[in-house]
Amino acid sequence: MNASTTRLKIWDLPTRLFHWVLVVLVGLAWWSVSVHNLTLHRICGSLVAGLLAFRLWWGLFGGSTARFAAFLKGPGAVLSYARGLFGHAEPAAGHNPMGGWSVAALLSLLIAIVGFGLFAVDVDGLESGPFSNLVSFEVGRTASHLHDLMFDGLKLLVLVHLAAILFYAVVKREGLVRAMVDGKKPLPETATPLAPARIWALIVGLVIGAGVAAVLIRLSN
Ligand code: HEM
Ligand code: HEM
Repeated sequence: MNASTTRLKIWDLPTRLFHWVLVVLVGLAWWSVSVHNLTLHRICGSLVAGLLAFRLWWGLFGGSTARFAAFLKGPGAVLSYARGLFGHAEPAAGHNPMGGWSVAALLSLLIAIVGFGLFAVDVDGLESGPFSNLVSFEVGRTASHLHDLMFDGLKLLVLVHLAAILFYAVVKREGLVRAMVDGKKPLPETATPLAPARIWALIVGLVIGAGVAAVLIRLSN
């Protein structure tokens, strides 16, 4: 870190908690199907749904760096960032223009997994999502296949996610993981730090997230 660099706060606690709880719950959801514990699976999935509902809200009303408008940039910004990737571009005070779209892809895949899971039914009709009774058995099976297919896509994207983080650590010497843990990143003093969200936005987001999770857990089991 040189003299004009300081560790600036860029990620608020809700965004960091969202990320690490999400990692644990996706892992648990994966493990629970592998041991055929579908009750636990639906609970984890419903909690993931609650987290995603919270994150969508937080993308609109959360801290400045968590907002979609802050990190979903147009093709011009993405291309010019990509061209300078191996150069000495300043580290981003949030998601960079390329990373921003990979975050959008990760969130979209997770939403698709949860959405299809709600309608999924297994081959003998014994295990099902809470909304599977609203559709035919065939549609439920298609939902189940898509649920599985989207999860394959997520696994692939998480590998890319981890490779990108490794690239930043090794090639660009940027500790993204530490920043996702303590919220702070070494940045030029002139960089824009996080502007925290209003407390009402956090309370409403928590109510929405908890409400979605609670309703789905209740309907699922
Ligand atoms: C991040 C969240 C989730 C992940 C990673 C996930 C992953 C998976 C995987 C890998 C399977 C096995 C698919 C197969 O091999 O057939 C599965 C099956 C299943 N999931 Fe999920 N799931 C998630 C959320 C949900 C949710 C929210 C529900 C419904 C509340 C759900 C309901 C089911 C059901 C009913 C099956 C059995 C379908 C079958 O065996 O064909 N899942 N899930
Ligand atoms: C199930 C596996 C994972 C999923 C689904 C996932 C998903 C995500 C998502 C959605 C974000 C955006 C955060 C936000 O703005 O809300 C993100 C960012 C991030 N994730 Fe993960 N993640 C996974 C595993 C990991 C692991 C294992 C690590 C650490 C080794 C990690 C490190 C990070 C870091 C450092 C960022 C911030 C990147 C940046 O600075 O732009 N992730 N991840």
